[in-house]
Formats: sequence, C-alpha cells, structure tokens
Amino acid sequence: MGTRLAIISDIHANLEAFEEVLNHISNQSIDKIICLGDIVGYNADPSACIALCRERNIFCLSGNHDCAVCDKISLSDFNRTAAIAIQWTKHHLSKEDILFLSQLPRFHQEGERFLLMHGSLIDPDRYLFFQRDAVEDFHEMTHMYPRIAIGFFGHTHQRRVFTYRSGDVTSGVPETLTFESDCLYLINPGSVGQPRDSIPMASYLIYDVDKQSIRFYHVKYDIQKASEKVIKAGLPKALAERLYWGW
Ligand SMILES: [Fe+2]
Repeated sequence: MGTRLAIISDIHANLEAFEEVLNHISNQSIDKIICLGDIVGYNADPSACIALCRERNIFCLSGNHDCAVCDKISLSDFNRTAAIAIQWTKHHLSKEDILFLSQLPRFHQEGERFLLMHGSLIDPDRYLFFQRDAVEDFHEMTHMYPRIAIGFFGHTHQRRVFTYRSGDVTSGVPETLTFESDCLYLINPGSVGQPRDSIPMASYLIYDVDKQSIRFYHVKYDIQKASEKVIKAGLPKALAERLYWGW
C-alpha cells in the first residue's frame, strides 16, 4: 500500500468534513488512503461520500452502518436515531452504491505489517473504549497474528492509542507516536464525520511506515453547512446539533 498512509474512519455521510480531510491529505504526499468503515449513516450525503471513496481509490472496510444499509445487520442492533438515519440512507442510495458497500471487507491483514478492523479483532461491531476492552484484542493479536504489532480500528469515533507492553495495557491520546519494537499497538484515528471527543473537527492520522510513526490531525470544516443539510433532509435534529459539540 506504500509507505505513507492516511488512515480515516467513520465518514458517516458528512461530505463537508470528508472533502476537507481529502484536501488536507492531498498536501501530504500520501501513497494510499485507508478507511476503516462507516462511510454512510447519520448525515445527509451518503451517495456523494461513496462516490468520493471510489474516485479517490480509497481502500475501504465495511462498518456496522454500511452493513445495515445492505441488510447484513439488523436495525434492532442500533439506537432509534441511528436506525432512522439508516432507513433514510437506504432510500438515498443507488443500487450501485449498495453493491459497492456490500462488497467491502470487514477486516484486512496487510501482509505482516498491520491489521485493519472496524471495531475489534474479536468482533467487528465491538467497541474498544477502555484498556480492559483492548486487553482481549491484544491477546487475540498475540495468538492469531504473532508477527504483527499494529492494528488500526474505528467505530468509537474517538482518537485512541492502546499500547501493550510486557502484559500491561496503557491508553493515551498523543499527537504523535513512534512505535517501539517491544510493544503492540491498537490505534483509532478518530472520526471524519461525527467526532465524539468533544472537539468539533474532522480527525484522521498519517502512518509513516518507513519511520514507524503516526501523527494525528484535526481538520476544520463547514459544520453549519453539514448540519443544515441534515435538517433539510428530514433526519433527526439531534444529528445536526451534535456536530457542533463534536459528540
Ligand atoms: Fe461509526
């Protein structure tokens, strides 16, 4: 996939945020963009976001919202607001869009370099919020992928670096990180289209494979425009409001 990778996740049909992130990435000499899933859901531009993923040849995983619009996951697994948005999204995608989403993988192993997942290694729809959640994933990584030290995940919409060293797991939100050879890492780039760490900006990271380092970025976007589109589309008002809080 190259040596400088942009890793994004949870675009959630927020075209304004997605375009700004792509602009930011275009100035960073990136070889490949990877999306960890949830291209659609919550916001008002699902089809345009799918089109951009295809145009820019972004390597995409499938998230739980992408699966739900393809009827691969039951709506009963979602809260009411999310389920309403999924139903709305289904009616605003073409057959081609649905086909594209339905063919995305839920997990990817990039040789012996790194793993890509939406939620967790154990279950793609499981949330990794806390150290205790990450412990199980590190055990799975050690047993199933003994030569791989790095996994990227999304789903929580929160930036996170979990580090496993000599049986202990620590959690942090650094701006930059250089990997150490005696550690394992699980890393979340944050969300492009619906951040939930109280910072109302799009979040992503760049992974420099040669330098074995990552750097996180926040990107400003036109929240008012994205929010007004949500209202105009008839989607739940709470989805428009939360963009201002970054939660
Ligand atoms: Fe998501």
